[in-house]
Amino acid sequence: MDLYLKGKTAVVTGASQGIGRAVAKELALEGVKVFVTGRNEALLQEVKEEIIAAGGAEPVTFAQDFVAPDAAQKIAAAAFAALGSVDILVNNAGRSNPLDIVASDEGWGASMILDFERHRQLTQQFLPHFIERKQGAILNTISTFELRVMNGSAVYKAALVAWSKQLAGEVGKYGIRVNNLQPGLIDTENVRRFFNEEERKAFAAQQIPLGDFGEAQDMANMATFLVSPRAKYVTGSIVAVDGGMRHSAF
Ligand SMILES: NC(=O)c1ccc[n+]([C@@H]2O[C@H](COP(=O)([O-])OP(=O)(O)OC[C@H]3O[C@@H](n4cnc5c(N)ncnc54)[C@H](OP(=O)(O)O)[C@@H]3O)[C@@H](O)[C@H]2O)c1
Repeated sequence: MDLYLKGKTAVVTGASQGIGRAVAKELALEGVKVFVTGRNEALLQEVKEEIIAAGGAEPVTFAQDFVAPDAAQKIAAAAFAALGSVDILVNNAGRSNPLDIVASDEGWGASMILDFERHRQLTQQFLPHFIERKQGAILNTISTFELRVMNGSAVYKAALVAWSKQLAGEVGKYGIRVNNLQPGLIDTENVRRFFNEEERKAFAAQQIPLGDFGEAQDMANMATFLVSPRAKYVTGSIVAVDGGMRHSAF
């Protein structure tokens, strides 16, 4: 299926590894010029080489700590300078943040900034451009709501969902779509911190109908569709890629 992505441009945050890296690579293989950002310069360089070796359009790399106060402005300025115009924004940077039930404001604040505020701010940098061009696809990587333990990231990803649904309601008239991609458990560094091989198998056997954690590529496949013109009637949605882990009715 042609996704009609050839010649488009995309900004992907948290693209140095894991889900963001797979999304950036898949978009590049579809002919999208990608702007990849994260902190780790060596990994970003690796992403660039991997994409070129796979035959994708040469990406632009930009190392930036996303929690720096001016991160959104800096990323947007660099993206506009490198790409000219931007069609797609993938808000993916983030990190699971387990917290005690009585936790410090610093602990909660760290997730608020990384998992909600910077995504809102970066999106706002691109919105006037999207509105002017009457097009734009925004995709947020969110979190699994069914968590049973305290985790700052999941709480602020829930805020991101609420905000993105409001935004989808406001900007549909400009041809801008805003969606959320919800991972179950995807095998990345972020998640390997919490499950060793044996725990992963035991958890998957009990909780995941498809029997194992997913791969970053599984997320990338769905992400690529959701930001493509093929998904032109999809907005304000939460799309789960979780091997059937969610078991609520809707
Ligand atoms: N894997 C899962 O099952 C799962 C479950 C729920 C939610 N998620 C969400 O999915 C997204 C991707 O996670 P992942 O599993 O792919 O994790 P990952 O492999 O650890 O990748 C996280 C990415 O975010 C970037 N990042 C983190 N903190 C940053 C900061 N301060 N400044 C700039 N970049 C930063 C990292 O870049 P650098 O290290 O280069 O800074 C990296 O590229 C996250 O938002 C995460 O919350 C994943």
